[in-house]
Amino acid sequence: MSASPANPVLQTLLGRLSAATKLPREQLSGMLRPPPKAEMGDYALPCHAIAGPRKQKPDQAAIDLAAELALDPHLKPIVISIEPAGAFLNFRLDPGALCAAVLPPLRAAGEAYGGSDEGAGQTIVIDYSSPNIAKPFHVGHLMSTVLGASLARIFRALGHPVVGVNHLGDWGTQCGYQFLAWKQANPSEREVQLAARGIDYLVDLYVEINRPGKELTSLKDRLLDKNVALQPGERVETEKRIAELAPVAEEIERKARELFRKLEEGDPDLRILWERFRTKTLNVLQLSYDRLGVAFESTAGEGFYEPFLLPLIEDLKQRGILFESEGCWVIPLSEPREKKKKPPFIVVKTDGTTKYDTRDLAAAIYRKTTYDFAQNLYVVDVRQSLHFQGLFKALEKCGYEWAKDCRHVSYGLMQIKEGDATLPMTTRGGRMIPLGELLDRMVGIVREIVNEKNPALPPEQKDRVAEAVGVGAIIFWIQARRRSSNIVFDWKEATNPDGDTGPYVQYTHARACSILRKHGTYIPDQPDLTLLREPEEAAVVKALDEFPRVLRAAAEGYEPSLVATWLVSASRSFNDFYNKRQVLKAESAALRDARLALVDAARLGIARGLKLLGVTAPEEM
Ligand code: ARG
Repeated sequence: MSASPANPVLQTLLGRLSAATKLPREQLSGMLRPPPKAEMGDYALPCHAIAGPRKQKPDQAAIDLAAELALDPHLKPIVISIEPAGAFLNFRLDPGALCAAVLPPLRAAGEAYGGSDEGAGQTIVIDYSSPNIAKPFHVGHLMSTVLGASLARIFRALGHPVVGVNHLGDWGTQCGYQFLAWKQANPSEREVQLAARGIDYLVDLYVEINRPGKELTSLKDRLLDKNVALQPGERVETEKRIAELAPVAEEIERKARELFRKLEEGDPDLRILWERFRTKTLNVLQLSYDRLGVAFESTAGEGFYEPFLLPLIEDLKQRGILFESEGCWVIPLSEPREKKKKPPFIVVKTDGTTKYDTRDLAAAIYRKTTYDFAQNLYVVDVRQSLHFQGLFKALEKCGYEWAKDCRHVSYGLMQIKEGDATLPMTTRGGRMIPLGELLDRMVGIVREIVNEKNPALPPEQKDRVAEAVGVGAIIFWIQARRRSSNIVFDWKEATNPDGDTGPYVQYTHARACSILRKHGTYIPDQPDLTLLREPEEAAVVKALDEFPRVLRAAAEGYEPSLVATWLVSASRSFNDFYNKRQVLKAESAALRDARLALVDAARLGIARGLKLLGVTAPEEM
């Protein structure tokens, strides 16, 4: 990836520093950083690398260089002060010059600010969301959905073609259980349920049909558990119940496996039913995806790869890559002399069937062939780290040099705060909260707040604001911390209008919009930006100027949280400016116009950041 663009003021500074020190610009650009305290200046340059060639101590090099640069006529118009501080040289840039350099291109770029076409031709495949059709859509999937969608937008902003894939878990014996439950359900009732609830209904079917099996397992565990002291008679009761349940559960399992086997063999009726379950699930999920602003380029799930598996297995056998081991066909992952042996990658199980892993192997190869990706990313929680390590190693063993372009973008786990307790994302009776319900609950909380704070707003607008802020609060919360951290979701704190939250940033954006609205539509095209000389103004401009670099760092580290952190700090700078300086009542019309341009740029920059994270930016709240 190319180096981040710098504004013209910084370019000049780097050019002059390079002339004075004989160090390349790129190196100097990497050395310049904000000093520990804002009072010290805008940039600090450590002088260690400069001192060496001059045969000086860094402190002395800083003093001499300061004296030299003070005489440079090119720096006069753009730098206010150059001060040595120990081994460092601190620069303060002229705020007017900075504003004049940064604001016009930002306002001209508008929605495209910070973007580029540097990624053209380098396709990024992002596997994200990827829930399982028979199991609940849990918060892990929500995190994957939010993070993956942001990465897709971030890479797109940098010019990359992006293929977002929802790798649905739609294949496996669970399908057989669902078919069986469906066949046993009331025909008209089941249609209504499937249309309305999609994945949630299928999960219920799965849970229901598995009930005898589940009870059986837990009773058996109880009998075997030495720590459980059974009351007299209880053992007899338990054994009796087990004897009752066992044939029922076995019969269900037999039928379910049989149905799945038929599906695998291509039974046309089951295939149609499978397609229907898939489509209905996706349709219902899409309602939530729409609220999150998420759309996929591909929804090829596990079942999609079924036809590729046999030919793949044949090919690997022929190429001598697959080995038989304890009844399975595997790709050994350990090197012959490795001490700590890695478990092999299992491609075919003892009973001859394939696995999640097999389908991932086929999917990676398919993606390379179809999209010729530059990077193939998997946004999946940290519990699957070993799976992906194995997958990438197996691809390498298959001789695919592009295995190095595959990456597991893992993230931590999320818990939820309910009152004083911290729970996994489940509710009453251990049931997972369906995604739609989770969003609704947050939106409901915000609706109350809007009602209280802004009772005069028309009801539809209240709804719109509540939806934007409620959903935005969840999306922002998930991305506000490094993705590796474990998150505790806090309903109340997530909506704190003064916290490091989505609503805080949204309020800041709405405030900027409101200033512009009060002024009217006309903002002069070319105000005299050199009038912006206050430190609060300079701070806003510097924050906005950081954005293109933040965007690149977010892409490089697969870290949307960098954008979120930037949004909070840019908003803090903006609010500080707003609290200390008058815009509409500025001392002169010319200064007012310059400040309006600054407000407009802040509005654009913040809206841009929010949109990249999938958070809407209402103009009024
Ligand atoms: N369906 C899986 C799960 O819920 C996640 C799939 C991730 N993607 C992949 N290609 N393995 O755990």
